[in-house]
Amino acid sequence: MQARQRGKGWPACKQEDPLCYLCRMAEDLQITAGSKEEQYRQLLPQISALMEGEGDLIANLANATAALREQFGWWWVGFYLVREEALVLGPFQGPVACTKIRKGRGVCGAAWERASTVIVPDVEQFPGHIACSSLSRSEIVVPVIRQGEVVAVLDVDSEHLAHFDETDQHWLETLAEKLPF
Ligand code: SME
Repeated sequence: MQARQRGKGWPACKQEDPLCYLCRMAEDLQITAGSKEEQYRQLLPQISALMEGEGDLIANLANATAALREQFGWWWVGFYLVREEALVLGPFQGPVACTKIRKGRGVCGAAWERASTVIVPDVEQFPGHIACSSLSRSEIVVPVIRQGEVVAVLDVDSEHLAHFDETDQHWLETLAEKLPF
């Protein structure tokens, strides 16, 4: 697929304008075909480029979720951020979702408690799974760990059974390490 043309609908960028950064995005996303491995290989540097020079965590996480969903078409992808006693819903793409998850609860809470990735091929078989959407069939949750502590989790849902595997785990963990927390 061809990269979309950038700049359409945006005013011409004037370098002296203090809001100039609004029209200085790294690049439009290039959607890649090919194996899942190849798709991740092409996408991750683009996500890094999107985050480059931007210091706002929420903005960066929002763009990361948009890029992931645009590339892979997943049902739901988003972050839950560790806030004291609970995970709190952060930037996401997809249907509305539950806003708070306690440690150990659901797949997200399990990944937080274990501080390791959880892959669930069939959510109905996962005790305590929290069904934000009845259409979600499988799920992967990757913790974001900084200085030995889980600071967030990246949650991805698919409407297909057994959609996620070790390839997703490897690349999403790689992404989690690069996120500017
Ligand atoms: N299914 C998750 C809850 C979050 S939603 O999928 C967006 C869980 O069991 O933790």
